[in-house]
Amino acid sequence: MAGRATDILSAFWAPLCAIGSHGTSGPNAQISVSVFGASIVPERPRLLVVLHKTNYTHDLVSQAGTLAITALSRGSAGLLEPLGLVSGRERKNKLDGLDYKLTAAGDPYFATGVAMLDCEVLTEHDLGDATSFLVAVRSLEALAGGDPLGWQEAKEVVGEEFLARWAEKSAREREVAFATMTWKD
Ligand SMILES: Cc1cc2nc3c(=O)[nH]c(=O)nc-3n(C[C@H](O)[C@H](O)[C@H](O)COP(=O)(O)O)c2cc1C
Repeated sequence: MAGRATDILSAFWAPLCAIGSHGTSGPNAQISVSVFGASIVPERPRLLVVLHKTNYTHDLVSQAGTLAITALSRGSAGLLEPLGLVSGRERKNKLDGLDYKLTAAGDPYFATGVAMLDCEVLTEHDLGDATSFLVAVRSLEALAGGDPLGWQEAKEVVGEEFLARWAEKSAREREVAFATMTWKD
């Protein structure tokens, strides 16, 4: 698959979110475009959250069983670099210097976002390179507001240096994913 037709795949990316969880070394968070609705029962809201195993946050969510999802807005686009291009595996306390709060469980969220969803893991599904977490939304909190931020809009504000670093990081992670993902030829 190549060329413009593959652009349609990025239309399936969900709004940008920060996924926060915690462990014995403290809180951590990452960026995700893979949070999808998974319930038609309003009083039992569920989401599917796909996290790659290379990410430190993946392991924290799996171990803690709780996570905070911050739906990001244009006003929170400044979080994309520290949370999306840097790993807590390499930089301990990667949230230092960022303005965050903790849920009762200890999961970090970011006040500049649209809203925070306090979640608990119901089940995990192994995708090889990633895990799909089915989560229950236990509570919701309105934050600074604005509209949810899509990747097409975010690309306009992040700048060339971010896009170059993101392309380089993505290429490395694609190699790992290629070798480990569930697939049939
Ligand atoms: C725009 C953007 C979208 C991303 N989407 C996802 C995603 O959907 N799932 C995922 O696991 N990682 C995604 N990432 C990558 C993680 O945010 C990134 O690898 C991060 O450094 C992981 O941090 P951690 O190791 O501290 O958890 C995305 C990154 C960016 C910049």
